[in-house]
Amino acid sequence: MTIIYKFIPIITAIILFAGFRALSLQEEEPAGKRIFIDNKCTSCHTVAAAGITSKTKKKNIVDLSDVGNELKSDFIIKFVTKQEKLEGVGHPIAFKGSEEELNTLVKWLESLKVTKEEHNEEKQESDKK
Ligand code: HEC
Repeated sequence: MTIIYKFIPIITAIILFAGFRALSLQEEEPAGKRIFIDNKCTSCHTVAAAGITSKTKKKNIVDLSDVGNELKSDFIIKFVTKQEKLEGVGHPIAFKGSEEELNTLVKWLESLKVTKEEHNEEKQESDKK
């Protein structure tokens, strides 16, 4: 019976370590990025600047790495809820989450402002690997 007590500090240490690790991982990832992944936006969109690579075979879908340079948050909100079109074409899916999630998501998207040059450099880097 007493042998169990010897393991309690070790088990506590492992649990604490795992807990802190999970916490620090969460902090590294912006909330908007999490929402983007959770809503399967990644099934179509690559965001190279954020380390997201879509598995889709469709070639004509834009990488959103610099979407913040192109579009304002107000427009993105309307676009991904299908209230607005882009060059006459609506977005294929409507965002299904809450308004709060949508705001967080779009704030993150708007913060993506990798310049075309940086983007190409990164692309060449990853192509080399
Ligand atoms: C079924 C595939 C698909 C999914 C899933 C998808 N998109 Fe899109 N998205 C597209 C296509 C197609 C376009 C329009 C063509 C383009 O801009 O590449 C587009 C365009 C966009 C644009 C405009 C980009 C620009 O500069 O033209 C944004 C912003 C965007 N999507 C956000 C999202 C978000 C956020 C999600 C998740 C809620 C999402 N998309 C999920 C296919 C998809």
